[in-house]
Amino acid sequence: MKGLILVGGYGTRLRPLTLTTPKPLVEFGNRPMILHQIEALANAGVTDIVLAVNYRPEVMVETLKKYEKEFGVSITFSVETEPLGTAGPLKLAEEVLKKDDSPFFVLNSDVICDYPFDELVAFHKAHGGAGTIVATKVDEPSKYGVIVHDIATPNLIDRFVEKPVEFVGNRINAGLYILNPEVIDLIELKPTSIEKETFPILVENKSLYSFDLEGYWMDVGQPKDFLAGTVLYLNSVSKKDPKKLVDASAVDYEVVGNVLVDSTAKIAKGSKIGPDVVIGPGVVIGEGARLSTSVVLKNSTIKDHALVKNTIVGWNCTIGKWARTDGVTVMGDDVAIKDEVYVNGGKVLPHKTIGANVETESIIM
Ligand code: GDD
Repeated sequence: MKGLILVGGYGTRLRPLTLTTPKPLVEFGNRPMILHQIEALANAGVTDIVLAVNYRPEVMVETLKKYEKEFGVSITFSVETEPLGTAGPLKLAEEVLKKDDSPFFVLNSDVICDYPFDELVAFHKAHGGAGTIVATKVDEPSKYGVIVHDIATPNLIDRFVEKPVEFVGNRINAGLYILNPEVIDLIELKPTSIEKETFPILVENKSLYSFDLEGYWMDVGQPKDFLAGTVLYLNSVSKKDPKKLVDASAVDYEVVGNVLVDSTAKIAKGSKIGPDVVIGPGVVIGEGARLSTSVVLKNSTIKDHALVKNTIVGWNCTIGKWARTDGVTVMGDDVAIKDEVYVNGGKVLPHKTIGANVETESIIM
């Protein structure tokens, strides 16, 4: 089978992390975001993965090529000279996606869930339509594509409304599809939206179905959702693969709830970690430090008695003694927060040192 991941855009909503690292490579749960999807596709029997990008992918090529062997897949980059939207990239990658008659997956790149791809394939083959969209329910559907069902035929989509201004329902497009190769014949090689242009044709042809997702789902393309997604992801790991999380009885620091720590991190006795914390490789955490609902990326240091809450600490950062961070603070690469300083809702650009309190949401350049 084949799969295409839509990796367009510059990841502006996840700045300042994406100022130095392409979004798909930002670690979520201690692994590049896109690796969660590549692994799930490989587990579902996908052998050819196309990454549809509209910027120069050198860093990604270098990082991702090494995973081809690990997952037994071929990863190719399909580079657009102008952004082709969410459907155009399928046409551009036609050669790979149409190399056989089997259906292919299409994934939006920031989506985190348990990826039920085997069940999705079985469901898709059983209904016989041209496409299946994975659906999930959300409280605020207006920023998503909303799916309305046909009353007579279960799961047949009657209407697809991208970013509705008026409420039409709360079952939304989760950004994961499986499509038959002939769907590509509906798309021209130009900037095209799959949601606004291709799906309506399939709906008209009564050929588009939805598959209800079980369990958690989150689009983690912005900091608040990245942290919320981390909470959901860790909860899922605690049920499916609890050995990956820290066993509180086996460490000499205090652990609360779900905590994921890289084996090379050093955490001092007397610190309290959790709930919902991810600590990356080479991270050092001092005595009496307190972390909750936060992600600390590679090679950062949290000094003694610092309090880190609702924060994404970027790579190579330092948080000083008795310093405090909260309010969805995001630190880019190589940021330092001095001792005793308080940062609330700061988005701190790479290589900055913060020496005075930041009390309200702001961008620090
Ligand atoms: N290669 C490529 N080229 N990828 C693109 C381009 C492009 O020109 N434009 C967007 N993408 C990618 C984005 O990187 C993302 O993975 C996906 O296509 C959809 O991105 P957006 O167009 O930003 O849509 P959205 O996130 O606001 O909404 C989409 O996702 C929702 C679920 O999170 C839609 O598919 C909604 O219907 C859906 O509910």
